[in-house]
Amino acid sequence: MATDKIAVSGFRHVFQTEAGPVQATGTIDLTIQPGEFVTLVGPSGCGKTTLLKAIAGFIQPSEGTILCDGKPIKGPGRDRGVVFQELAILPWRTVRRNIGHGLEIAGASKAERDKTVARLIDLMSLTGFEDRYPHELSGGMKQRVAVARTWAADPEIILMDEPFAAVDAMTRLTLQEELARLCAATGKTVFFITHSVEEAIFLADRVLVMTRRPGTIKAELAVPRRNAGGRDWDSFTADPEMRDIAEKVMHLVHAERV
Ligand SMILES: Nc1ncnc2c1ncn2[C@@H]1O[C@H](COP(=O)(O)OP(=O)(O)O)[C@@H](O)[C@H]1O
Ligand SMILES: [Mg+2]
Repeated sequence: MATDKIAVSGFRHVFQTEAGPVQATGTIDLTIQPGEFVTLVGPSGCGKTTLLKAIAGFIQPSEGTILCDGKPIKGPGRDRGVVFQELAILPWRTVRRNIGHGLEIAGASKAERDKTVARLIDLMSLTGFEDRYPHELSGGMKQRVAVARTWAADPEIILMDEPFAAVDAMTRLTLQEELARLCAATGKTVFFITHSVEEAIFLADRVLVMTRRPGTIKAELAVPRRNAGGRDWDSFTADPEMRDIAEKVMHLVHAERV
């Protein structure tokens, strides 16, 4: 059997604060396979971000182990790219130079950089905005630049923490379709946190549902892929099996309301 891309076992995290210990998560076990898109939904404060930060290597777990390609995670690494809700783009760099930033740091040649950046500009529908600065872009476009920037550095794993939460509902649909297309085109392993059940199902190969804090994983549901090019909302909403999965996840999530 192939090695799990990510294997979390017996993970549990307690933050030590001045006011005393805060148990952020219950005990969590999960695996993510190479090329799989796994989404995580759960109530606010249940420990989703804590888990993601531990996988990213920003937090050392209080208990348990996290393996990446079979090796323990010791800290952040080039193999794992992170996209947070808060924008991580540089205001003084143009779209093109934001997207190419990671490649610049990695010492890629200009020709290589140009090629990757052009491909991502196309996949993220940013054509015509290459030489604009972030302040000249809408919120949705900025978030696209942030996604493209993480992708350009070509990490094998992408960790996303509610990346579209601050974007308006219409733009969000477009971003989700673009992300689905991007994933289909690049085959990355993705772990994606969201509050939105629909978003979780639309994007996922597998949805994990957490309990309220201290969160554990209470259920997981497989979401069948329908085509190789990534999902679109029209066919997704017309698909009775997807509606059925959405209803199941909705019930599981609602039972955890705090
Ligand atoms: N740095 C921290 N110090 C102390 N407590 C924290 C810290 N970060 C998160 N917490 C607490 O841990 C719990 C889980 O937080 P978090 O992982 O951010 O939840 P979620 O992302 O699911 O909303 C919350 O109760 C939160 O207040
Ligand atoms: Mg969070």
